[in-house]
Amino acid sequence: MRRIRIFDTTLRDGEQSPGVNLMPQEKIEIARQLERLGVDIIEAGFPITSEGDAQAVQEIARQVRTPVVAALARTHEQDIETAAKALEGAMRPRIHLFTSFSPVHLSYMLRKSEDEVIEISVAAIERARRYVDDVEFSGQDAMRSDPAFVLRAIAAAIAAGATTINIPDTVGYTTPEEYGDLIRRVRREVPGAMDVTISVHCHDDLGLAVANTLAGLQAGADQCEVAVNGIGERAGNTSLEEVAMALHTRRDHFGIETGIVPAEIGRTSRLVSRLTGMLVQPNKAVVGQNAFAHEAGIHQDGVLKERTTYEIMDPQELGQGPSQLVLGKHSGRHAFQTRLVALGYDIDPQRQKELFGRFKALTDRKKQISDEDIQSLVEDELYQLPDPFVLQHYHVSSSDGASATASVAVRNGPEGSPVYREAAVGTGPIEAVYAALQRVTGVEAELVDYQIRSVGGGADAQGEVHCTVSSGGLRLVGSGISTDIIEASAFAYLHALNKAAALRRQTAPATSGGEAV
Ligand code: KIV
Ligand code: ZN
Repeated sequence: MRRIRIFDTTLRDGEQSPGVNLMPQEKIEIARQLERLGVDIIEAGFPITSEGDAQAVQEIARQVRTPVVAALARTHEQDIETAAKALEGAMRPRIHLFTSFSPVHLSYMLRKSEDEVIEISVAAIERARRYVDDVEFSGQDAMRSDPAFVLRAIAAAIAAGATTINIPDTVGYTTPEEYGDLIRRVRREVPGAMDVTISVHCHDDLGLAVANTLAGLQAGADQCEVAVNGIGERAGNTSLEEVAMALHTRRDHFGIETGIVPAEIGRTSRLVSRLTGMLVQPNKAVVGQNAFAHEAGIHQDGVLKERTTYEIMDPQELGQGPSQLVLGKHSGRHAFQTRLVALGYDIDPQRQKELFGRFKALTDRKKQISDEDIQSLVEDELYQLPDPFVLQHYHVSSSDGASATASVAVRNGPEGSPVYREAAVGTGPIEAVYAALQRVTGVEAELVDYQIRSVGGGADAQGEVHCTVSSGGLRLVGSGISTDIIEASAFAYLHALNKAAALRRQTAPATSGGEAV
C-alpha cells in the first residue's frame, strides 16, 4: 500500500484561526501530542512573525525527535535566517518557503511580474538550502493561477533545490477534479517532479477541503497538509482526523496508508480544542460529540443489536469512549430498558412500561434525558402509592411586594376519579401552592423541610425537590421532579401528603377537603 506523509499545520495555519493565540508552552504540549499521534511533519510556526513564535519553534525543534519540524518563511533573506536559527536544535529541520502564484496576489500584494517571482523564489530556495537539506516551496493561491506559470515556477523551484513542492488552494476555490488534474500535470509535465514530494494544502471555504485533499492524494500527491479539528484561516484547513480516517476506513478504495495512530485522535482533538478555545461543532465528523451518538429508536435498536448497523468506525478505537445512545423523544423502549439495566435497576416489565410512558412524557418537555433524570424518574415511580392524589393543574400568580396566590386541581384516585379545586395565598408561590394542596387534599401536615437541586445540565435541566412533612406524629418525605420548579415542588409535597393520606386511610377512609368539579 502507498504510504503518504501527514504534514500537520495546526501550530501555524491552525493558529491563524481568528481569535486563537497559543502560548509557547501550549504549542509545545500540542507538538508532543502530535508526535504521539504519528504525524510526519509538524509545522511549528512562522518565526519571523514574533519572538514567541520563534521561541516555540526553537523549543519544539529541541523536544520533538521523530517528526520533521518545519518553520515557515517568506522568500525574504531575514525570514530564512530567522527560521534557520529557530530550527537549529532540530533532528530533522525543514524550511517552508512561500510566495504567491495568482495574478491577483502578484499585482496587489507582491507587485512583481511572474519572472521576478520565479527569480526571487530561486534565490530564496538556494539560500535556504545553505542551512537545511529539506526545503519546501509553496505558491499561494495556485488554484486561481495560470497553470502554465505554476508549472514553470515549480520547475524552477525543483531545479533550485526544493525537495517538497506544495500546491496550495489558499482560498478554498478548487474542486476535486480540477485539483486532481493539476497534481497529475505537475507530476507528468514538470522536469524533476517525479523525484520530489508533491504536497496538497486545502482550505475549506466551500466545504471541499477534505474532498480536494483526497482527490490530490489519489492523483499522486504524497503529502497532505492538515490541521487538527480542521482549524485554520477563515473556514479552516483540511481536517487531519477526517482525512486520516477516510484513508483508514476506505483503504479498500484509496489504497493509501498513513502513520496516524487512530487511538490518539480523540485525545489530540480535545487538547487542541481546550488550548485554542475553539469548540468542536457537535456534528463534526470523527471528533464531534454527536459523531457516535444515536437518538432515533430504530438506530438505537440496531446499534444495540450490532454496532456496525449504524457505525462505520469504532469510537473506542479513536479514543472517543463507547457509542452513545442519547435518550430523547425519538428513543425507543429497547434503549430505555438497556439504560435502566446499565443504571443497576431490576424493574418488573409492568413497572418498566409505566416508566417508559413517563419517560416519553418527559421527552416532550426536555430535549435530552440524562442518567440523573432517569434515576429521578425511577425513584419517583417506585415510591408511588396506590390511588394517590394526582396533580391535574396548577396556576400561580406572584409579583414582588405582594402575596402570591395559587389555585390547584387534584384528582383523587385513578383516571376518571373526581377532580377537586382549591385556591390559597402565601408569601411566595410555593407557599401558596402548598396551602392550596393542603386545603384540597384535606390532609393535615406541617412542612418541616424543603430542598431543591438541579438535575442534569443546561437551560432545560430539571428541578428535583425533596420535602419532609410532619403528620400524625410521623415524618414523611416526598420528592418530585420537573423542568418547572413550582410543579416539582407541588409533586414533592403531594407525594408526602399521599403518604400521610395513606396512613390516615388505615384508620378512616380518605375524603377530599376540596370541592369536586
Ligand atoms: O494557504 C496557503 O497558501 C498557505 C501557504 C503559506 C502554504 O498556508
Ligand atoms: Zn494555508
